[in-house]
Amino acid sequence: MGKEIPQTVDFFTHRIWRQILGLGQPVVGRGLAQLSHRWATRVGQVHDVDPAPPDDEPSLNPDDVAHRYAADSRPARKDRPWVMLNMVTSLDGATAVDGTSGGLGGEGDKMAFRAIRAVADLIMVGAGTAMAENYGPPVLTAELRAARVARGQSELPAIAVVSRRLSLDPAARLFADESFDPFVITTSTDGSPEATATKEALATGATVMEVGDDQVDLAAALSELRQLGFATVLLEGGPTLNASFIELDLIDELMLTLAPSLVAGASTRLATGPIEAVRPMRLDRALAHEDNLFLRYVRQESHG
Ligand SMILES: NC(=O)c1ccc[n+]([C@@H]2O[C@H](COP(=O)([O-])OP(=O)(O)OC[C@H]3O[C@@H](n4cnc5c(N)ncnc54)[C@H](OP(=O)(O)O)[C@@H]3O)[C@@H](O)[C@H]2O)c1
Repeated sequence: MGKEIPQTVDFFTHRIWRQILGLGQPVVGRGLAQLSHRWATRVGQVHDVDPAPPDDEPSLNPDDVAHRYAADSRPARKDRPWVMLNMVTSLDGATAVDGTSGGLGGEGDKMAFRAIRAVADLIMVGAGTAMAENYGPPVLTAELRAARVARGQSELPAIAVVSRRLSLDPAARLFADESFDPFVITTSTDGSPEATATKEALATGATVMEVGDDQVDLAAALSELRQLGFATVLLEGGPTLNASFIELDLIDELMLTLAPSLVAGASTRLATGPIEAVRPMRLDRALAHEDNLFLRYVRQESHG
């Protein structure tokens, strides 16, 4: 299938610890600024977070932001990759406006989105999102591509679309691009004649992975991806697929952009499914940019 076997290399991790311990350079600025997250280590204390730091404190440029995300520790397990989820929501929890997420995030969110994508070995997305957002091959700046190669990763992350019913259009941008070979993760069951025809058509422009008979076995899919060398998977939604990951306790990290608007309407929240599953997370970092918050949460260690 012509894919490079990527590896994830963690570096700059010590910088994060220096910040946690209060040893780091001040990085709070007027633009994209890091808010001190030391309060998170002080149990029971409440701390003020200043969204308008003093002028003399430097803000982060896009390279700094990319370094921040690349420096985070993401140890893959033997049996599956590290899984990070990236989503943007409004203040009242909406995940889409007019059917896509584009109306929520601003320039800062796009910057963070690219920086996070640059970290991933593989981007995973549900069929609904891939179609609604008209997914194509990933695009990264020359600097981000070079940084990936320097870390031992492929120049661009791979993409995998999850679909049980194969409600996908083989002519869609993602599958029509002959220079890019996405994965389609589905079941081995022969569905309707239409689904079978779609599977055959998709197989000409994608690598079809069959995991599970009636349902897609997401844990088995991750295990297979790990065996192929993918150490870091970035889940980009949508809410239905997110819910399955949370139910199966497969989320190691959540990157949440809190966009500064109220939306109302009927948009679903970050994860929607029939099963409630409580997964405790720990705040690791908060960045601010023009009233947006970029929050990084990681699985609580005690939670395993
Ligand atoms: N705010 C954000 O950051 C963000 C991010 C992503 C998406 N969104 C928005 O979310 C909306 C789409 O939501 P959605 O919940 O429909 O998206 P989704 O989870 O991407 O797509 C749902 C479809 O994905 C497949 N799927 C999901 N979970 C599966 C599982 N466990 N096993 C097998 N297949 C599975 C199914 O496809 P088949 O029916 O083909 O089996 C299902 O119908 C869009 O409006 C999009 O813009 C927002």
